Amino acid sequence: MAGSAVDLTKMTSLDGSLSNGKSADHLTVADVESFDPTAVVAEPVPPVVQSNGENGEKMREIVLGKNVHTMCLEVTEPDHDDESTGDKDAYMASVLARYRKTLLERTKHHLGYPYNLDFDYGALSQLQHFSINNLGDPFIESNYGVHSRQFEVGVLDWFARLWEIEKNDYWGYITNCGTEGNLHGILLGREVFPDGILYASKESHYSVFKAARMYRMECEKVGTLITGEIDCKDFKAKLLPNKCKPAIINVNIGTTVKGAVDDLDLVIQTLEECGYSEDRFYIHCDGALFGLMMPFVKKAPKVSFKKPIGSVSVSGHKFVGCPMPCGVQLTRLKHINALSSNVEYLASRDATIMGSRNGHAPIFLWYTLNKKGYKGFQKEVQRCLRNAHYLKDCLIEAGISAMLNELSSTVVFERPRDEEFVRRWQLACEGNMAHIVVMPSVSVEKLDYFLNELVQGRSIWYKDENVRPPCLAADVGTVNCCCALHK
Ligand SMILES: Cc1ncc(COP(=O)(O)O)c(C=O)c1O
Repeated sequence: MAGSAVDLTKMTSLDGSLSNGKSADHLTVADVESFDPTAVVAEPVPPVVQSNGENGEKMREIVLGKNVHTMCLEVTEPDHDDESTGDKDAYMASVLARYRKTLLERTKHHLGYPYNLDFDYGALSQLQHFSINNLGDPFIESNYGVHSRQFEVGVLDWFARLWEIEKNDYWGYITNCGTEGNLHGILLGREVFPDGILYASKESHYSVFKAARMYRMECEKVGTLITGEIDCKDFKAKLLPNKCKPAIINVNIGTTVKGAVDDLDLVIQTLEECGYSEDRFYIHCDGALFGLMMPFVKKAPKVSFKKPIGSVSVSGHKFVGCPMPCGVQLTRLKHINALSSNVEYLASRDATIMGSRNGHAPIFLWYTLNKKGYKGFQKEVQRCLRNAHYLKDCLIEAGISAMLNELSSTVVFERPRDEEFVRRWQLACEGNMAHIVVMPSVSVEKLDYFLNELVQGRSIWYKDENVRPPCLAADVGTVNCCCALHK
């Protein structure tokens, strides 16, 4: 697709200007060819904003990403002769080809988010011509026939076995993401206990606090240990004055930043010690990432419906790996009735957060679960944990503060000083911490490549003796901190 075949005048907006501020008259073929909509741009430096300090917490600077409006791909009206010239098709093909290249490059340099980018769903490309929609309840077929419920329920049964609940006792569905699982799980808790108080550790994912706002629930933030797991002493202190109201608890099976696993058994024990019988609490387990990994970790505590939990959710695009965000939500059949209503128009039941539901996602999940099976996941989990230990050891050896929780593949380390470096490796940062989530797509070679760049970068950032790496003792403990004071 030669760039010279592109009709530049067709890239203008309605007023004749381009999204980069140039007029079409001044646009050259070179401009078009070098225009990479998704490349990491060095400038402008992203704005620094203040986070909302709560309960007297110190305000912290947050670095936001760049404003996409400065480089968006405009949608332009077709010209009357487009079909005969083929110019617009050629233009769009060239944009997509460049975009694909960017995706390849960005995939190669991705480390910070818990996404397994290693998958091959070529066999499913034949399905892209179908508008597959599972609107309504997965177990009650709607009148819309282009659905994939047979795959969806197969996937749900697989997870029911993993989390130990009988087929006849559970209800669940494939969600759009882990967030939707949390929104659904917490809503179930609220429907079961309309006057219940939501308890969640302060290191819970933001979607948990969003749920509290959306449902206007009273919410108690519970303190955490240095590992990031819920501090059950503080939990007890928060429960006791509220004993007159039922408790809805979000338990983290892997926190977002530190990959910490809340001690489910201790949470249940604390509830019992505070006088909460099983009919006065509802536990939602947020297993967005680790919900699928933990069952395969030796010595790890179990997430199981044999325990008094109400629901578990997991993201499908994280450890499984999937080209579109998705997730799984499972609960006890007895809880779902409180949330359901029959809808004549659907000839199905409404029990989900969304209306239309992605019918492709269940097929992708079904495909991978079939290919890998429990054994395949077990092997991948072991490799991830091994590689995470390798990364953590290399960081410490290089004098870089780092922490790895025992059951986790999330390596927390000193935030790189250069924001450009952070963006290049797509690191997720909070305060002085950055993390890498070691997923099946993260090889030792990739980690070595990253480590080399980090060590080189630090030799430049900290060349001047007056600029020192940050102290991470408050975040990861003094034993894991390599700052000048603690090393
Ligand atoms: C602990 C936890 N819960 C929920 C979520 C939300 O998952 P999703 O991005 O699939 O909505 C995340 C995302 O990272 C997470 O780490």
